[in-house]
Amino acid sequence: MSRESLIEMTRHNMSHSKAGTVAQAESVMSFPASHYYDEDRWKAEMDGVFRRMPLMMAFSCEIPNNRDYRACEAAGVPIIICRDDNGEVQAYMNMCAHRGSQILEEGHGNTHRFTCPYHAWSFNLQGELTGVFSEKEFGSFDKSCYGLKKLPALERAGLIWVTPNPESTLDIHTFLSGYDEMLAHFNFESWHLFSRRTLVGPNWKIAYDGYLDLYHLPILHKDTFGPNYPHKSMYYPWGPHQRVSSPDPSLLEWEDLPESQWDTNRMISGVWTIFPHISIAGFDGGGRGVMISQLFPGETPGTSITVQNYLMENQPTEAQAEEAEKQFAFLKHVVEDEDYYTGLRQQHALETGFKKDVLFGRNEEGGQRFHGWVNKILDTADEDLNALFEKG
Ligand code: FES
Ligand SMILES: [Fe+2]
Repeated sequence: MSRESLIEMTRHNMSHSKAGTVAQAESVMSFPASHYYDEDRWKAEMDGVFRRMPLMMAFSCEIPNNRDYRACEAAGVPIIICRDDNGEVQAYMNMCAHRGSQILEEGHGNTHRFTCPYHAWSFNLQGELTGVFSEKEFGSFDKSCYGLKKLPALERAGLIWVTPNPESTLDIHTFLSGYDEMLAHFNFESWHLFSRRTLVGPNWKIAYDGYLDLYHLPILHKDTFGPNYPHKSMYYPWGPHQRVSSPDPSLLEWEDLPESQWDTNRMISGVWTIFPHISIAGFDGGGRGVMISQLFPGETPGTSITVQNYLMENQPTEAQAEEAEKQFAFLKHVVEDEDYYTGLRQQHALETGFKKDVLFGRNEEGGQRFHGWVNKILDTADEDLNALFEKG
């Protein structure tokens, strides 16, 4: 089924490549400029989007073995992601059931229990409270009610989603809208996390706009990779998630080739974004790799944090690793010194308040759809979220 979708997208691409056309949105759209800097709007997005939506927080290859864990933060919520003794991924708030201390420092490890550094209460990998230090003196209470707060989590396609809200009833699989089946073509389960970096950028949506936008490539990136890339984009949505690609005339060489022989890796080229904050972009430098960018709102409306993760299909040799490092340094330079440099200046100008709206053209359908989904989600009550994603 998902290969059929790839073939369908490839055929769509070929027909536009042949005709020299590109798919376009119905009309130019405008959105309020204040959505990029208004404090109330930003708080609404933190609570209504980042604390309610599943976020792609980790890679299966980071916690490959039973009892592996990673402690990190999801939109300001300290979390623990672990693989339990049955190989299932679980997620909990990194917050002790006694008085709320954070149990783990950020990082990775392997353990059969989590022990709080404050008074040594301990929890198993199912999140159950299994040990209370000096229990007799502490006094009796119902230990079964004092486990770690469980968070919805789902592992699919070698990626791990966590909803940073223990009260969420949104089904992560429903939210994914079938997109996980497409991402499964990368086979990320067997890839390797090569390197990770953190960058500071503008408002999370200004930053994210750039990942959905090929229009700017030959202009803003004229001195780096821009001139070699097409700037015409076509968007393929699964619910709020979107693949971005461009008409590619080289695909026309497949016209007389049976579809069964079309190369899957070539059919999945381009950028795959995962709502609300992920971009997956392929590259070749020291071997096949992807840069997976995770965007999070910063401490203020005008800032964001991007974690750039470099995953490689194969464990690189020394020479390949050197080449890959160079590639990653280049990508960091492009994002930091071109995209985010420009985005921070855009942020500064918008914050004057003298611009009322921003425009997304018919060629920027991805941005139109992204902002449309943010609005739709903010307008949807918790109990109606599953229905929203079922509808697509
Ligand atoms: S806060 Fe964790 S044991 Fe007391
Ligand atoms: Fe860019």
